Amino acid sequence: MFDDDALPDILPESPLPLARQWLDEAIREHKTPNPNAIALATSDEQGNPSCRFVLLKHLDHEAGYLVFYTNYDSRKGRELAARPRAAATLLMDHQERQIRFEGPVLTSPSEESDAYFASRPLISRVGSAASAQSSPIASREDMLQRVQETMARLGITPADLLQNRDIPVPRPSNWGGFRLWFDRVELWVGGKGRVHDRAVWTRTLEPADGSFRASPWAGTRLQP
Ligand SMILES: Cc1cc2nc3c(=O)[nH]c(=O)nc-3n(C[C@H](O)[C@H](O)[C@H](O)COP(=O)(O)O)c2cc1C
Repeated sequence: MFDDDALPDILPESPLPLARQWLDEAIREHKTPNPNAIALATSDEQGNPSCRFVLLKHLDHEAGYLVFYTNYDSRKGRELAARPRAAATLLMDHQERQIRFEGPVLTSPSEESDAYFASRPLISRVGSAASAQSSPIASREDMLQRVQETMARLGITPADLLQNRDIPVPRPSNWGGFRLWFDRVELWVGGKGRVHDRAVWTRTLEPADGSFRASPWAGTRLQP
């Protein structure tokens, strides 16, 4: 009676094929506007945590990392520069599923950030170019003025934005991707009477050639 959608009795060697399947299902079913939103926790040099949502833009289920994009000078960007570890949680509320990812963070290769930036709608590229994310600004009006100035600098008109014209915008040097590599992944399935099913997998990541060499995963079930 408790086990309608539990995890497999014998846990898979890696949690990532199941994580991939869950994410794909959530995106396909699209029951929430942003099924790929993750709560991303970072911390400052004193260990004070901070958390915000970002969009998970790529899950590499073979190597074992996810990619999100942001401003490197934002609060999260500065915290990751000082302490390059993060935790991210994906909630699939309609499916009663949760995935927790933890591990070290690396900056994405610049060609990858270039390609993703170029794929974004024109208005989003302009917005990223205009915003010194997480810096104070005196008023909303001042912010909109900054957007106007950025458009003028790039020779972009309001009509270009409305029609999403394919106008090149250089990627700001302080905007790009981060790869959150996983050394701990937890899968959670909601159960009746709060007798949820949980399992956690851990592995060791050794720095190698600007990336990581990973040990095999070790998985274990947890009490709810
Ligand atoms: C659903 C949702 C998705 C978001 N996606 C992103 C994102 O992909 N990248 C980003 O920089 N900010 C994103 N934001 C805004 C962040 O939550 C946050 O306000 C911003 O990145 C500044 O955070 P920081 O000051 O902690 O660096 C998103 C917000 C929401 C509510």
